[in-house]
Amino acid sequence: MLDSGRTEETLLEVNNIEVIYNHVILVLKGVSLSVPKGGITALLGGNGAGKTTTLKAISNLLHSERGEVTKGSIMYRGANTQGLDPAAMVKTGVIQVMEGRHCFEHLTVEENLLTGAYTRSNSADIARDLEMVYTYFPRLNERRKSQAGYTSGGEQQMVAIGRALMSRPETILLDEPSMGLAPQLVEEIFTIVKDLNEKEGATFLLAEQNTNVALRFAHYGYILESGRVVMDGPAKELRENPDVKEFYLGMSDEGRKSFRDVRSYRRRKRWLS
Ligand SMILES: Nc1ncnc2c1ncn2[C@@H]1O[C@H](COP(=O)(O)OP(=O)(O)OP(=O)(O)O)[C@@H](O)[C@H]1O
Ligand SMILES: [Mg+2]
Repeated sequence: MLDSGRTEETLLEVNNIEVIYNHVILVLKGVSLSVPKGGITALLGGNGAGKTTTLKAISNLLHSERGEVTKGSIMYRGANTQGLDPAAMVKTGVIQVMEGRHCFEHLTVEENLLTGAYTRSNSADIARDLEMVYTYFPRLNERRKSQAGYTSGGEQQMVAIGRALMSRPETILLDEPSMGLAPQLVEEIFTIVKDLNEKEGATFLLAEQNTNVALRFAHYGYILESGRVVMDGPAKELRENPDVKEFYLGMSDEGRKSFRDVRSYRRRKRWLS
């Protein structure tokens, strides 16, 4: 493992992809990124930047939204994964935890977790993994018999991550785990992600608007704006980068500006001085 959390082995390689919705709306305009085995990689950017679209392109979930990868390639362990159905994708070792949690509200917490094991048949292994999930999420252990719809937002996010773990994934695509949660819960969830990464060797690609927390826990980050990667680097370097500090860290959505604005602002400053 290198300092930045990146190993020599690349699991996922997204190469210059373009995504179009409804045959006309060009949303990703040539996105490239790579996810190393055993790392936490963050995909950052504001509303509508293209984070969810990128994750869905990887897990082959665009089809149901009339979205299509029209250019570029997506490789997992060196094999092209485009066109695999979502279940085949799970077998490959990649699972996506959707934005907004999506629990089966009428099932109990435990029944929800067990739905994540649908591609597996060895019941002893499944029982062992259920206990593993409860070790990482003690709150879920306490609520195992509760109806998921009546648990808190934070607990539902934990159910969503726990259910993904039940498919024994190698790589977890996590979409906005912090969305709508109080800061203390966000901290709790990211700490569990870090534990799963360090102790279970789980690889993460997580999409986040919350740059601050994501760059504290991730090893490497990509910043997306309007469907393009405008910057990438080790999380530590991004945290210390003046532009990232000024435009992404500790600022509200309303206060966030674009890197393109930064560049023209710099040019204006040079002309004026
Ligand atoms: N099914 C769809 N059909 C048409 N346009 C879409 C569709 N889904 C997303 N878009 C558009 O694609 C762009 C990127 O959306 P996406 O959801 O990927 O952004 P995001 O970075 O995940 O944003 P957020 O942080 O708000 O979740 C947006 O302009 C959005 O309106
Ligand atoms: Mg999104």
